[in-house]
Formats: sequence, structure tokens, C-alpha cells
Amino acid sequence: RPRVLSGMQPSGDSLHLGNYLGALVNWVKTQDDYQALFFIPDMHAITVTQDPEELRRRTRKTAAQYIAGGIDVEKSTLFVQSHVPEHAQLAWVLNCITGFGEASRMTQFKDKSAKGGQDMASVGLFTYPVLMAADILLYRPQGVPVGDDQRQHVELARDLAKRFNHRFGDTFTVPEAFIQKEGARIYDLQNPTAKMSKSASGPNGLINLLDDPKVTAKRIKSAVTDTGTVIAHDRENKPGVSNLLEILSTLTGKAVPTLVEEYEGKMYGHLKVDVADAVVSRIEPIRKRTLELLDDPAELDALLAHGAAKAREIAAVTLADVYAKVGFLPPV
Ligand code: TYM
Repeated sequence: RPRVLSGMQPSGDSLHLGNYLGALVNWVKTQDDYQALFFIPDMHAITVTQDPEELRRRTRKTAAQYIAGGIDVEKSTLFVQSHVPEHAQLAWVLNCITGFGEASRMTQFKDKSAKGGQDMASVGLFTYPVLMAADILLYRPQGVPVGDDQRQHVELARDLAKRFNHRFGDTFTVPEAFIQKEGARIYDLQNPTAKMSKSASGPNGLINLLDDPKVTAKRIKSAVTDTGTVIAHDRENKPGVSNLLEILSTLTGKAVPTLVEEYEGKMYGHLKVDVADAVVSRIEPIRKRTLELLDDPAELDALLAHGAAKAREIAAVTLADVYAKVGFLPPV
């Protein structure tokens, strides 16, 4: 079976609605047709400062949310990045075929380092996309289901795969980003021209999977809408209303134009109430299940250990191939 692989950073206290609709929903759909691997990139998380105890807690919590959101550990392989040392080992080799200028052009580094100044940014943050390429290429997947903001990173993984194959002979599969049309970019509720983001959105702009449903409903009902009264999809002039329509479309499976027809003559308030209901009824069971799973951390840790063992079987084969191709002397 063809393979897919993806991951989400354990950097916040909860996954948000963008992570869920942009990525997790699509991961769940791949599980029947692909051999799917989903992991928690804890090594990516430490490219910015983390509290060690928090990071451990959030890594488990992220795993629990994957499962609660529909990842079936019988079908898919679920693991933690740092449990599979081959990720860091392959990243080193890929660092050595990545151009300094090429890495400098990655927009995420530019954005994140712009905030604190380049001198404050770590070398880890700079080389972050190369580690991500290693995550992907190690498993030779056909597809990488992600939201729109990861497109450039998957593109780098493709470039590095082609470059390595060209230089050392066919080794890697050139992966494709699997980006769904709907939900690929969910926007901040208070600032609907910026994407919803753990690090950049203020609390009222974010919908967290693990928030109290009352808080979630309230945030949606106080989302920034636009001047005028007509419910229409227009990203340029009505970014707030358009975001709500897209969220509702992803959750109900109804196309945006159908929704626009249904809301003809209705007010923004009606739309907000319906979006709030749709979001809450979808994420409330996920929240409950996550909390249940977190009651038994030993069980979660055992699942993750099992997943890492399965992942290593694949990763070790690729790494051995790479080490041989670049000319490393095999240990006897
Ligand atoms: P991360 O943790 O920022 O996001 C996880 C996933 O959620 C998607 N996403 C969104 N989708 C729609 N609207 C939004 N507002 C929104 N915000 C986030 C992201 O596109 C992503 O799919 N670098 C990755 C983690 C990673 C990875 C990998 C992913 C590390 N190694 C290998 C795939 C393959 C990241 O930081 O995603």
C-alpha cells in the first residue's frame, strides 16, 4: 500500500481548529487506503524554548488528541519523533546537501526570527525544514497530508529527495503535499486575514480542541465579522464571514455556495450560532475522549513505544541505505 506521513507540533496546550480541520480530519481519511504514520515532532518543538516538564506533558496530550480525533492505532503507526533516532541522523546528511541560501529562503524562519531578531533565533530553528524533510523522506511516503502553510516545507523535502537521488542514485520517493481544498487555511477569529495559530493568535482568535465548550461557543459568537449585513463568500472584502462559512462547510460537508443560498436574508448572528453549534458538537467528544486517555498515561506511553518500534523498522532500512550511498564505512 502507498504510504502517508504527517505530524503536529506539541507546542501548545491543545490542538486548535486549524490543526483539526486543516490536517487531522484528512489524516483520518487516509487510514484505510494508505499505510499511515503519524508522529509528534518533539524535536521540532525545542527549536524554540520549551519547559521540559510541559513538553513531556504536551507530547502525551498531542498523542491523546490524535487518537481522540480519529487516529486508529490498530491501522496507523503513532510515535514520538525523538524515539526514532534515525530522524536526527538523516537530518544531518540532508543538512549537508542543503544550500545555506536555500535554507535562508524558508519563510517560517524569516517570520519567526523576525520577532526576536536573528541573533535570538537558534540554529535549530534555521535548519528546522531540513529535519522535517528527514521526517518525511525516511519513510518514503507518497503523500504528506498537511494544511496550506506547510506547502513550502514539503517542497523542500521534494527538492532534497531529487537532489540526493540524482547525486547518489535512486533512494527516496519524491513525496507530494496532500492539501485538501476545504479547511486548508482556517483564519484567526479576531483577525481573519491571519491564519489561526498557536503562537500568533490571541486567546479570542483561537478555538482549542480542549477548551470548555462554553468558551468555544462564546469565541465564535464574538468573532469579528465585516461591515454590511449580507452573508456572502468574499475573501477580500468579507474575510470574517468567509472564514465562518468555510468552517461550517468543512464540518457539514455542504459546499460554500449552498450555504450562502441557505443564509440568504439571514443575519450574521444566525450564521454564528450555527457555526458555534457545529464546532462544539464536533469537538466536544474529542475533548472528552482526550481527557479519558490522559487518565492512563502508562497505556499511552505503551502505545507510543509500540509505534516507535514499528516506525524504526522502516526508518532503519532507509538510513542504512543512505549511509552506504554517501560512503560511510559500515560498523562491523
Ligand atoms: P504545525 O504543528 O504548525 O501544524 C500542524 C498541522 O496543522 C496545519 N495547520 C493549519 N491548517 C489550516 N489552518 C490553519 N490555521 C492551520 N494551522 C496549522 C498545518 O498545516 C499542519 O499540517 N512543521 C510542521 C510539523 C512537522 C511535519 C513534519 C508535518 C514536522 N515534521 C513532517 C508533516 C511532515 C508544523 O509545525 O505543523
